[in-house]
Amino acid sequence: MEDVDLKSIAEKLTIRGKGILASDESTGTIGKRLEKAGLQNTEDVRRAYRENFYTADIGNSISGAILFKETLYQHASDGVPFVKCLTSRGVLPGIKVDQGLVPMPGSNGETSTRGLETLASECKQYWQQGARFTKWRAALKVSDGLPSEAAIQRNAQELAEYAAIAQACDLVPIVEPEILIDGDYTLQRSGEVSQRVLQSCIAQLWRQPVDLEATLLKPMMVMPGADASQKASAQDVAVATLDTMRRSVPPAIPGIMFLSGGLSEKESTLYLNAINNLALQQRKDTWALSFSFGRALQASVLQLWTVERTGHVPQGSAKGMAEALARANAAAAKGQ
Ligand code: 13P
Repeated sequence: MEDVDLKSIAEKLTIRGKGILASDESTGTIGKRLEKAGLQNTEDVRRAYRENFYTADIGNSISGAILFKETLYQHASDGVPFVKCLTSRGVLPGIKVDQGLVPMPGSNGETSTRGLETLASECKQYWQQGARFTKWRAALKVSDGLPSEAAIQRNAQELAEYAAIAQACDLVPIVEPEILIDGDYTLQRSGEVSQRVLQSCIAQLWRQPVDLEATLLKPMMVMPGADASQKASAQDVAVATLDTMRRSVPPAIPGIMFLSGGLSEKESTLYLNAINNLALQQRKDTWALSFSFGRALQASVLQLWTVERTGHVPQGSAKGMAEALARANAAAAKGQ
């Protein structure tokens, strides 16, 4: 194996003004979205849909793309491997390595994440196939009494163990403790829960042989739950998010790459822009504050691609939308 400099990969992923495309939906999750759009969930439809992104002109906005295992081995319709499509555009290929959520025994509907048993051998194969970074997602529910301390600790431990294994296999880990948007919790409660969760994750990362300078964090922005009666402005979200990150995330971590978690495309971009504006105003741009969006970079692309297949809009419209969304979020990652 060649000598791999994980810090320089983390640096490339967090270069200012670029972000990450999360396109690593499992076959089941992408299937639900395709079927909702009236498309079949076959391997070739999944491949053709993802080709819109990997062959688009996204290199000036996107530093890395997270792929699902199936996609890592697929090719564009002209036969070029997706990994090559990405690297030739200056985009680093990454891979989702968790195997999804499982119920946590004895909990009130909480979950942990599976996949640690086979992680090392899989990481080695993914590296051979061209992946240079990884993602592992944990999910925490917020409601009365939740998340429990047990769920916070269990998920933080798994995330840290994963990060150590990924780095040992020469892959930069993205640590994703998602606070789920579902529920009617307030902005303040979102901040309290985020702080507890992030601080626990960092404490566990410190206990493992993990190099924080080669680790990225992928949290939810701090904001009220989707059903909260009191909505928050982009400015409120920015203040709460930056306060929480400053209290929880050491500057050794090079990048905080937010997920979109069910926010609309517009909200995701406006909130990210407000966060970056505020960080610039306060001269506290300690970390790259950018995106690792899934739905916020894809929702309109899927809609347009569905129409494109019926011939009602010109070929290439969906690809153009993928480029436009990537550009808008790259601008938001600079507060512009
Ligand atoms: P969303 O931005 O759609 O939440 O997806 C990001 C992601 O990778 C979730 O694991």
